[in-house]
Amino acid sequence: MGRKLKFNIFRYNPQDPDSVPHTDTFQIEETESMTLFIALTQIREEHDPSLQFDFCCRAGICGGCAMMINGRPNLACKTLTNELPKEITLMPLPIFKMIGDLSVDTGTWFREMNEKVESWVHTSKTFDLETEEERMDNALAEEIYELERCVECGCCVAACGTANMRKDFVGAVAMNRIARFMMDPRDQRTGSEYFEVIGTDEGIFGCMGLLGCEDVCPKQLPLQDQLGILRRKMGWSAIKHLFRIK
Ligand code: SF4
Ligand code: SF4
Ligand code: FES
Repeated sequence: MGRKLKFNIFRYNPQDPDSVPHTDTFQIEETESMTLFIALTQIREEHDPSLQFDFCCRAGICGGCAMMINGRPNLACKTLTNELPKEITLMPLPIFKMIGDLSVDTGTWFREMNEKVESWVHTSKTFDLETEEERMDNALAEEIYELERCVECGCCVAACGTANMRKDFVGAVAMNRIARFMMDPRDQRTGSEYFEVIGTDEGIFGCMGLLGCEDVCPKQLPLQDQLGILRRKMGWSAIKHLFRIK
């Protein structure tokens, strides 16, 4: 016999004017290798078909299932119930727009962030279908790939003190994106152009450096390193700008 698990789950439907935020409690029996995805599906099938939560890949790839699990943001599909106590409290991620219960709209936030920091390769070269692709050094490609592993789950944003206080803060995920483009030899942006995008209070200078972001990233991205590198580069750009050093 498995443990009896008690789930306290946040409920609210912003589409329904009569809905009031509250917590519902459900009890289920734990099974072997049970993940929160399996538990939530069982609760929906056996107790309440109206329960809303997001899942797509069930393999830690789509980033859709992030939620607050006993107060800590994480991917529900990758969390085994046997890593948790018998009583489990599930809440939606803060900051993002609520869709209902445990489901939030991370897509709009990430789109706005990507547009704000111009998260694409800036080049004056015109794309020619006929020419062979330019080769990139393998070691450099791997370094870039390391930062590209972000699944845009939103855990680092939810855990960030600044992002929780300031709606305009772009978060460690944006800094990681910029660090990735700074490494990319195809991106022709200059130091001062990057400074315009990220050398602000909404960017690197708004970061308090307490590293909640790195602690919770389910993909173990090296956010601490990237924040440190950017802070140094942007600090140097600020000094050059102040003293008009070329
Ligand atoms: S280190 Fe910066 S980006 Fe990371 S959680 Fe703290 S304030 Fe947010
Ligand atoms: S950096 Fe990590 S925690 Fe943040 S969105 Fe990407 S994968 Fe999620
Ligand atoms: S369902 Fe895709 S990351 Fe969890």
